Amino acid sequence: MSTSLSRYLVEQQRAKGKIPPELRLLLEVVARACKSISHSVNKGALGGVLGSASTENIQGEVQKKLDIIANEVLIDANEWGGHLAAMASEEMDSIYLVPNRYPKGEYLLLFDPLDGSSNIDVNVSIGTIFSVLKKPDGVEDVSEKDFLQSGSQQVTAGYCVYGPQTTLVLTVGNGVDMFTLDREQGSFVLTHEGIQIPADTKEFAINMSNMRHWDDPVKKYIDECLQGKEGPRGKDFNMRWIASMVADVHRILTRGGVFMYPWDKREPSKPGKLRLMYEANPMSWLVEQAGGAATNGKQRILDIVPTQLHERVSVILGSNNEVERVTGYHLKP
Ligand code: AHG
Ligand code: MN
Ligand code: MN
Repeated sequence: MSTSLSRYLVEQQRAKGKIPPELRLLLEVVARACKSISHSVNKGALGGVLGSASTENIQGEVQKKLDIIANEVLIDANEWGGHLAAMASEEMDSIYLVPNRYPKGEYLLLFDPLDGSSNIDVNVSIGTIFSVLKKPDGVEDVSEKDFLQSGSQQVTAGYCVYGPQTTLVLTVGNGVDMFTLDREQGSFVLTHEGIQIPADTKEFAINMSNMRHWDDPVKKYIDECLQGKEGPRGKDFNMRWIASMVADVHRILTRGGVFMYPWDKREPSKPGKLRLMYEANPMSWLVEQAGGAATNGKQRILDIVPTQLHERVSVILGSNNEVERVTGYHLKP
């Protein structure tokens, strides 16, 4: 018999003591919200959800209608259950406190409601990324600084990719498991357990159009890959770039590879494009839980203590030996 997400969560709680009841509820609610977002994504033009809104987020990016819809779905689903103290989102300037009319819980939920926004209108895979932290002990009134915890403090992380299939990928610190949405049943069904990323790969994912802006270590690494069999690596590499982190990471969890969004000279004062708390931390933990690695070139991403909510970071993640190599080029140029 197939295992639904609900059954999986109950069994994890019983057997491994990994998931307290409040966290189970949280994961059920997040999964339900993802189901609803998946439904909107699938409707596309028929649901009037394509195109841009007339607003910008704190990063100065024009919001798409689906960025806003997905953000609202996640808030509406999560605010009343009593499992959360507050939420933070890539699409909201400041944290969202659970309104006083609802009971409050111990957890903090962070999300990139819709990742890969540039792919919405062209019908290419997009997704939702989320991360859960615990409210620090003794804190009554949560404020932004309570969110500023390193990724190593996450209690659960995951993403849902809306592609040809809708797939939910989860870790609670006990490996990585994948669930596929069964639309007839309306539930997520466990389809892949104990995901492992091979240590070696012949595939890299990076936005090559930024090459002239990269730093030397990244240029050197990619240049060596491009030399293929005749170069120092002695093998041919393939390049894949979907421009939805969620889909690029999903490919890496499925068959290995290395994904990079490095610092570049376009905006030298920013440490990178991707957001530490909504994108890099949850993805880094998933990748590590699957036997891969994630660094910013100099240190493990999960060790970075954020100084602000919307902090950005340079990202190198995926197959262990490749991440080690690129990181080595940064540390010993
Ligand atoms: P978002 O849609 O949440 O803003 O994130 C987009 C991110 C990430 O998913 C992707 O890897 C990258 O931006 C794409 O950047 P390019 O525009 O450089 O391809
Ligand atoms: Mn994103
Ligand atoms: Mn986004």
